[in-house]
Amino acid sequence: MDTRAPARPARLTRRRLAVPAAAALLALVAGCTGSPVHGRPGAAGLRDPYFPKAGNGGYEVDHYALDLDYDPADGVLHGTAVITARAEQGLSSFNLDLAGLKVEGVSVQGEKARFNRTGNELTVRPAEDLTAGEVFRTEVDYSGRPRTLSDPDGSKEGWIPFEAGGAGGAVALGEPVGSMAWFPGNHHPSDKASYDITLTVPRGFEAVSNGELRSRTDAGGGRTEFVWHSPEPVASYLVTAAVGRFQVSDGRTPAGVPWHTAVAPGEAAEAGPALARLPEMVDWGSARFGPYPFSTAGAIVVPEGTLTYALETQSRPVFSGAPTEPGLLLHELAHQWFGDSVSPESWKDMWLNEGFATYAEWLWDEEHGGVSAQRRFEAFLAGDTSVDGAAGSDWAAFPPAEPPSARNISDEPVYYRGAMVLHRIRQEAGDERFFAMLRGWVADHRHGNASTKDFTAYAEQKTGLDLKKVWDVWLYGKDRPH
Ligand code: ARG
Ligand code: ZN
Repeated sequence: MDTRAPARPARLTRRRLAVPAAAALLALVAGCTGSPVHGRPGAAGLRDPYFPKAGNGGYEVDHYALDLDYDPADGVLHGTAVITARAEQGLSSFNLDLAGLKVEGVSVQGEKARFNRTGNELTVRPAEDLTAGEVFRTEVDYSGRPRTLSDPDGSKEGWIPFEAGGAGGAVALGEPVGSMAWFPGNHHPSDKASYDITLTVPRGFEAVSNGELRSRTDAGGGRTEFVWHSPEPVASYLVTAAVGRFQVSDGRTPAGVPWHTAVAPGEAAEAGPALARLPEMVDWGSARFGPYPFSTAGAIVVPEGTLTYALETQSRPVFSGAPTEPGLLLHELAHQWFGDSVSPESWKDMWLNEGFATYAEWLWDEEHGGVSAQRRFEAFLAGDTSVDGAAGSDWAAFPPAEPPSARNISDEPVYYRGAMVLHRIRQEAGDERFFAMLRGWVADHRHGNASTKDFTAYAEQKTGLDLKKVWDVWLYGKDRPH
């Protein structure tokens, strides 16, 4: 007789459950972790090393359908989120992350569900327990003025209203945990999902999000409805919505990737020439790193001063003011491969985003008449501030794979020392093997998640080199490398 406990309750089949003796046995062996049929509460967080409460356990989301109505005049959002998810265990209740806003009602599988809220956790108790493996639909109706949140490092995320010479608007940004300010969800990068986002705004405003614009229609009552579709999986911190009196343009890159840009009117004069390089950069990334990962590209430019940073929101990065520095535009576009398609497993893996996007800038520069990556690497090492980008940078303060706290995940070592890790691999492997490794990494983890351990193992396997010293000194070492 097989007395092993089932590896995962989710793998139980209907047929096996239909046999009473087998069911009884399974109930017995599954007893210590809860039965797959009778639920227990899903975990309130995924125990991320830096944001332990972010995300939730017990289910995985396949799809979000967000229907949002926003009026910049009063800043009030009315939202309906329909979340299709798969239970990974029997669930008596489960959590969604949501900050602020008023929840008006929740239903699960079409039946009214009870809910309560503590902190940023919305706990939903379905009328009937959910079964392990069950695909279920949760609808949350909510409204209110979405909050602007403060990151551990003091920068703003969440919902960020802006004024632009009397023409207001707002932009939603989610790195690392701002998305909970505007829609309920499993807000951790490890649970990626596809999205359909409908935005209804007063006539005269444009509403822009990720992916493809499916329709733009008169919704009556002086309002316009925009329907956006992201077919590929998106980490929720990379979802955006922007409302403003934007000037929009469309086109295709020379290689054929459709792009869509939206620019705040005051930024249009500067953004025109800056964004003119976008198509060429998207195609350059495809040539260097492998096919552009999404069905559309583009950018959103909100008024200068709205934010202290740009963000690589999927397919359509957000810039605060025109990205007149080509390096900044290239950086956010490079994130489409590194961060957006290949997303971090946890917030500890941030250097897989930032180190790679920074190294992409170095590569772009060396191929477009700037200094070589080698020269830049040497300048950083020597503390030579004459090379652009090296000035005053405290790149060595901590090992990029181990930021000291949540406050440091966007600090210089994650970017620059992270880029230097890649350059060290290139020095060891030579160009041919290095670029093959980089393309292979992107291809292997396309639309997925990856950790630092995944990367170090992959780099060694693909180059055939023992890179332990590089990891010890550059990635994990406490001391300043020299
Ligand atoms: N990921 C953004 C970039 O492209 C920067 C985000 C900065 N956020 C922050 N909280 N400091 O580099
Ligand atoms: Zn970045």
